[in-house]
Amino acid sequence: MAGDDRPVCVFDSGLGGLTVVRELTAAMPDENIVYLGDSARVPYGTKSLETVRRFALEDASFLMTHRPKLLVVACNTATAAAIDVLRANLDVPVVDVIHPGARAAVEFTDGPVGVIATEATVASGAYVDAIAELSPSRAVCSAACPLLVPIVEEGRPDDDPIVLHVLSDYLGRLQRFRPSALILGCTHYPLLAGAIAKLMGPETELISSARAAADEAKKFLQGPLAASPDNGAGALKCFTTGDPERFAHLGRRFLGRSIDDVEFVGTDELETR
Ligand code: DGL
Repeated sequence: MAGDDRPVCVFDSGLGGLTVVRELTAAMPDENIVYLGDSARVPYGTKSLETVRRFALEDASFLMTHRPKLLVVACNTATAAAIDVLRANLDVPVVDVIHPGARAAVEFTDGPVGVIATEATVASGAYVDAIAELSPSRAVCSAACPLLVPIVEEGRPDDDPIVLHVLSDYLGRLQRFRPSALILGCTHYPLLAGAIAKLMGPETELISSARAAADEAKKFLQGPLAASPDNGAGALKCFTTGDPERFAHLGRRFLGRSIDDVEFVGTDELETR
């Protein structure tokens, strides 16, 4: 049966978006994926929304040269800064991570919702707005966790004492808030899920925005937009603005399998788009 084998293009500031690729592949193994990790400019979360908007537009323009059928913004910070301008400027459907994550939390519980995310995402109010749209009187408590992205990009495991120390500090206010659901509002955070779950306790369900975004992408890729069922294991092609060897080595943990095809693309090339 014929299908649509154009790729799904995905980007993030670095390795974090590979947690979304992992979920996309689990949900739709036939799909071809092209991924861009802007590792040379990570973290996005400590930069101004204006700068992140420019980076997001450059990342998306580069990926558009691969003629995608769907673009997935696998970065909460880029979603917070640029989702409207991306949707207005691109002629492909765009899936983000914030709205699916907010919806998954609100559908899971009627109780209070916590959000952990980058400084820029929290400052934008994007999660608070998305939750309020779905459930106007919902109690929400957000915490910015700026050290987590560099810690995760460095490849530290979630039982590392430094990780536990940093998390205990960031999660103190949320532990007192006692949310029924805690949104992991940064695609890097699923790698720390074990430690976060331990600190929050069994009464708090962790909601991965990465998984919620993959579910949303699956809704788009039904029927004629689905890849050919005989496509086999879909191909994954990665680009990084950082070091391809480091990307492949550290990215393995995010993706849950080895990464064979990584190519360097310079930020100067992205900036000319
Ligand atoms: N993983 C990204 C996010 O979901 C960006 C993290 C960063 O670069 O600060 O927000």
